[in-house]
Amino acid sequence: MKLRHIISSLDLKREDYFSIFEYADKFANVKGKLTHLEGKVLALAFFEPSTRTAQSFQTAGIKLGANVIGFSSEESTSVAKGENLADTVRMLNNYSDCIIMRHKFDGASLFASEISEVPIINAGDGKHEHPTQAIIDLYTVYKVFNTIDNLNFGLLGDLKYARTVNSLLRALTRFKPKRVFLIPPPQLKARKEIVEELNYQTIEVENPYDVIQEIDVLYVTRIQKERFVDEVEYEKVKESYVVDTKLVEFMKKGSIILHPLPRVNEIDRKVDKLAQAKYFYQASLGVPVRMGLLYKIFNEG
Ligand code: NCD
Repeated sequence: MKLRHIISSLDLKREDYFSIFEYADKFANVKGKLTHLEGKVLALAFFEPSTRTAQSFQTAGIKLGANVIGFSSEESTSVAKGENLADTVRMLNNYSDCIIMRHKFDGASLFASEISEVPIINAGDGKHEHPTQAIIDLYTVYKVFNTIDNLNFGLLGDLKYARTVNSLLRALTRFKPKRVFLIPPPQLKARKEIVEELNYQTIEVENPYDVIQEIDVLYVTRIQKERFVDEVEYEKVKESYVVDTKLVEFMKKGSIILHPLPRVNEIDRKVDKLAQAKYFYQASLGVPVRMGLLYKIFNEG
């Protein structure tokens, strides 16, 4: 197997996205257990909390016939005894064929990939990236619209600290979005170093009502409380935006709302039953997408 790390959504080309989508389509319909990853061991190295990402990777691995080992918090590992990340990665190399890693530090997965002899999949590193979430986001768009090109995207919420936003913005460079609106509270604007490197223009908007009727895909994020250095700053912005039924009324027919979840208060629960609400459907695609990605890593390199 060729060594392949997935650290950023830029590690995948347009055709890689489509081939993962194809595998995901195939795996979504399979009942029971497959044998493609039989004899392989996947290590889930989760130094930060997770519900969906960890559980869906685990399910994806099991469904493909792999064995899954790992941990879900720093406290339960020798890191709590002072072991450094490099040594932990070296140890996991002895036990596993692929490491799926989540860490609070930006760049932790890249660092791990520099010493690892097995593929590293970044399952979220600090406020940097979360590439497998971007694959799920785009696959959801693809399932609904049958294309990713020529659509208007609106990214609403914390665009500064949300790693899913960085991965999505970068993944969109592989496609031809019509327009990409950025709709953050003033203190939580997307980071310059990310936006300036994109191969398409983004349009910053203050008021979602100014563009809501044009948007095909509204991508909402949670305020990333744990990334704030200053609690006072968090308090100032914490309830600065809410997607409610009033806003959704202005959305065009066929448009959708996505959210990587967990949702806190930024989407009113009354929105859940509206046709635009696709975030639970999006979450349900986590398993087939991650099966597709794992299959690709192990079978194509
Ligand atoms: C996201 C994350 O961990 O970055 N969660 C997820 O994996 N779906 C989003 C978030 O925590 O807000």
